[in-house]
Amino acid sequence: MSCMLVGSTTKQMTDIQTKEDVTLLVNKFYDAVLIDELLAPFFKRLNFEVHLPKMIHFWSFVLLDEPGYTTNVTEKHDKMSLSMDLFNQWVNLFKQTVDELFVGEKAELAKQRAVVLGWTMGSKH
Ligand code: HEM
Repeated sequence: MSCMLVGSTTKQMTDIQTKEDVTLLVNKFYDAVLIDELLAPFFKRLNFEVHLPKMIHFWSFVLLDEPGYTTNVTEKHDKMSLSMDLFNQWVNLFKQTVDELFVGEKAELAKQRAVVLGWTMGSKH
């Protein structure tokens, strides 16, 4: 059984099931990104009040079938000239964050989707 530490107690880990779960995942992921030497510089100037809701919408669309997300994510990154190393770092951090918080089918889908998108975007540069 997988457990996670919440305060001083342990809680059995569950799958990504609600928008609150997605929000937690995205918030924790950016906590990690912003202290990562390689990735932090790319996000330092972003307005997170605008960016985080977009990320939460994207992942809710992918994982929870929430409608209405129409941005072409690959295209969005084309102009940023990011290297494969950077994408690998992003994806590894994302996978780590998922594994720290969730277990299950959706958790696996989230990691798989990140790998595929990261690879697709990274292979263009
Ligand atoms: C090297 C790795 C990456 C870096 C440095 C990076 C950086 C960024 C930045 C700076 C933005 C904000 C763009 C803007 O609004 O002006 C953004 C948006 C976004 N990124 Fe990434 N990204 C990376 C990888 C990924 C990957 C692998 C995914 C998906 C699995 C992803 C998903 C998104 C999404 C969904 C948005 C919001 C697009 C929108 O709705 O406007 N990113 N990224």
